[in-house]
Amino acid sequence: MKIFLDTADIEEIKIVARWGVLDGVTTNPSLFAKTSGSTYEEILKHVCRITSGPVSAEVVADDVEGMLREGRAFAKLAPNIVVKVPMSEEGLEAMSTFADEGIKTNCTLIFTANQGLLAAKAGASLLSPFVGRLDDINQDGMIVIRELVDIVTIHDLDTEVLAASIRNPVHMTQAALAGAHVATLPFKVLQQMVHHPLTDKGIKQFRDDWEKAREAAEKKPGAKEAVAAAATQPGS
Ligand code: E4P
Repeated sequence: MKIFLDTADIEEIKIVARWGVLDGVTTNPSLFAKTSGSTYEEILKHVCRITSGPVSAEVVADDVEGMLREGRAFAKLAPNIVVKVPMSEEGLEAMSTFADEGIKTNCTLIFTANQGLLAAKAGASLLSPFVGRLDDINQDGMIVIRELVDIVTIHDLDTEVLAASIRNPVHMTQAALAGAHVATLPFKVLQQMVHHPLTDKGIKQFRDDWEKAREAAEKKPGAKEAVAAAATQPGS
């Protein structure tokens, strides 16, 4: 399963890349609005230098020509750019044209399996159902992930289900169990996945016990001399 980072924050992307778990990045206009000092294009180019995985760049136009213009410009920024297009009648037409031109797309704002099926038929290489936003309105967002994964598998569709709007580590586990090919996560959720109170407590306890044992060993009569003698032995 691939893990994408859902952010436009360069520092967060660098950290997760260093962890060795970064397969790609998704951005959107709201995430870009949280950054400052660089244009969207500059940020995208920077992200594409950090990861060779897919980097989603979202169009904001709502007409086909505008989507095509923006998407083609994004696609020129780097070979790993994936144009993010919203689910709509215009979006389907744009995704179909992008597919003909060999430009990869990520269909965003999917809230039903039928929307995902249409996006797959139009040629989207990634389908992004939004789990958290469905949960927010008292609907089980994970159902759409399960249904879409089943549809893609049953019909052997050439696309991948990307679980988006992931808000917590439980969403991540459920998406993985549902067979989502990808999940895109905020940095905070990735950090939450790393940590467990017993892990963090265990690390501290082992370190404290090690220090205590070392101090006790150093206090034993003759300990310092024994260490010095061992250091002068051949092969030590
Ligand atoms: C990713 O592609 C989406 O834009 C993102 O996951 C949306 O998340 P949100 O619903 O938490 O804003």
